[in-house]
Amino acid sequence: MIDIIEKKKLGKSLSEEDIEYVVKGIVSKEIPDYQTASLLMAIYFQGMDIVETTHLTLAMANSGDRADLSAIGGVKVDKHSTGGVGDATTMIVTPLVAACGGTVAKMSGRGLGHTGGTLDKLTSIPNMKIQFTSDEFIDLVSKTHLAVVGQSGNLAPADKILYSLRDVTATVNNISLISSSIMSKKIAGGCDALVLDVKYGSGSFMKTIEEAQKLADIMVGIGKGAGVETRAILSKMDQPLGTHIGNALEVREIISVLKGKNKESRLLAVSLELGANMLVLSKLAEDVEHGKKMMLEAIDSGAGYRKLCEFIKAQGGDVSAIDNPDKLPTARRQVVVTSDSSGTIVRMDTEAIGRSAMLLGAGRATKQDEIDPAVGIVMQCQLGDRISVGDVLCTIHVNDEQNLDEATTMFEKSIILE
Ligand code: URA
Repeated sequence: MIDIIEKKKLGKSLSEEDIEYVVKGIVSKEIPDYQTASLLMAIYFQGMDIVETTHLTLAMANSGDRADLSAIGGVKVDKHSTGGVGDATTMIVTPLVAACGGTVAKMSGRGLGHTGGTLDKLTSIPNMKIQFTSDEFIDLVSKTHLAVVGQSGNLAPADKILYSLRDVTATVNNISLISSSIMSKKIAGGCDALVLDVKYGSGSFMKTIEEAQKLADIMVGIGKGAGVETRAILSKMDQPLGTHIGNALEVREIISVLKGKNKESRLLAVSLELGANMLVLSKLAEDVEHGKKMMLEAIDSGAGYRKLCEFIKAQGGDVSAIDNPDKLPTARRQVVVTSDSSGTIVRMDTEAIGRSAMLLGAGRATKQDEIDPAVGIVMQCQLGDRISVGDVLCTIHVNDEQNLDEATTMFEKSIILE
C-alpha cells in the first residue's frame, strides 16, 4: 500500500492490479483507513486518467453483490442525477417512461446535505416500501415495468467505505472519485442502459458547465467500458429545479406535473429531456424529439399518472394520498417570507436554499439524522423576477421551530437582488 500511495503521490498511473489490491484490501479491512485516506488525498491532487477511473469503478462494482436483471425481458433502463435541490425528476420521468413501454429498474439513494434523495420523497407517501429482496424487485419490475427501491446492503461496499472517508477528509469533490462512485453503483445495479443528469451551478457539485461536461464525458466513457449504454445531459442548478423543496411537498409537485397542470415548469422540461433519452436507449423512440412527444402524450392521456399510482400501489403505498394529497404529511405552520428590498433576482445560492430546507428538517446533515417528511420550502420567485418590497419570496412549511429563524435568514440571504 505504501508503494501505491507513493506512486500516486508522484503523479504516476495506478495499474489494474494496484487498484484491485486497494479495493479488496479496503473491503476486507486489511488496509487501514489512514492509508486509504492518504491515497484519496494523493488521488485528489494528482487525479486519475480514464483508464484508472474505469478500473476503480469496475473494482468497486465487483466489490459486493451485482443485481442480475437478466430474468426481465427488454432493455432495463436507469437514470441518475448528480444531485440537486427541488429535483424530483425521478418520480416524473420513471412513470412516464414506463407508461411509454420502457422498463425501469431503479435503485435510488437517500438525500444528504443540501441535496434531496428519491427514497425520502417516496417514503413520505404513507406505507410506501422501498426495501425488497432481489427476487421481489425482479417481480415488481416484471409486473409493473417500474420499481424504485433502496440499494441492497452489499451493493458496491467499497464505495460506502470510500465515500465515508472522502466525506471526512475533504476529498469528495474530485471528478474521478465522483464518477467512479456513481458509476460503480449503477453498474452493480444491473441496468443495460443509463441516462445521467449532470447538474451544474450553485446547487451542485460542479459549479461550471465545463466541469459538468468533463464529469459527464468521464461517466459516459466508463459506461461504455462497462458495456452499459450511457448518455448524459447537462442541466442547470442555478436555482431550485422545482418550486417545491422537501419530501411530501415535492410529491405534491410531481402529482401536479403528471396531471398536466404544470406544463411550463423547469422540472418537466428536464424530465422530458431525460425520459426521451431513456426511450431512445430503450429503442422505443426514434430520437429525443419523438421521445418527448410520447411522454407529453402520456401526460395528456393520464397514462403517466396511472403508472405512478400503479407503481406506488405495487410497493405498498397508499394511493389515496396521491389522489388526495391532503392525506400526505402536512406541516403544522406555514410562514410567508417577504422581501425587504427591491430589484431583479440576478442570482440564487441554491446550495444555501437546500441547506435552509435541511435546517427545517427536510434533509440530513449526517446519515443518522431523521427527516421530517412534511417540512420544506415552496418557492414563489425565480431568477429574473422583478421584486418589490413586501413581495412574497417563498412559504416555509415548518413543524419544529427551533431552527426557523436561522433557516429564514439563510433563505433570505440566498436571493440576490440587483
Ligand atoms: N453521488 C455519489 O454517489 N457519489 C459521489 O461521489 C457524489 C455524488
